[in-house]
Amino acid sequence: VTEDWVEAGTVADLQRRKRSVVEADGRQIALFWHDGEVHALDNVCIHKQRELVKGVVLNGRIVCPGHQWAYDLKTGYEQTMDRYQPCFPVKVEDGKVYVTARERTDACRPSST
Ligand code: FES
Repeated sequence: VTEDWVEAGTVADLQRRKRSVVEADGRQIALFWHDGEVHALDNVCIHKQRELVKGVVLNGRIVCPGHQWAYDLKTGYEQTMDRYQPCFPVKVEDGKVYVTARERTDACRPSST
């Protein structure tokens, strides 16, 4: 297994801008700083390919600018539609953010709600 973490800028920068986009393995990954944590979701909306990074964060969800589907930042879950936006693992090391394009399969699945 190869190391496929991609550097996605500094934490300080993300804290200031609240969001950014990085490309990893040909995928656009949107990063969000929210409640002291970094979240990484596919930037391309599963509905009609609008960019989540241009959306608004509301109640812990990123609201797509296209048609207002609202994805939970932690899990990618869209409650009304019962669909999932792919999300990705992130790690923070030495003040830098790293992300991989290997989709998360842990939290990005229905939680027992
Ligand atoms: S493109 Fe995202 S909700 Fe339609």
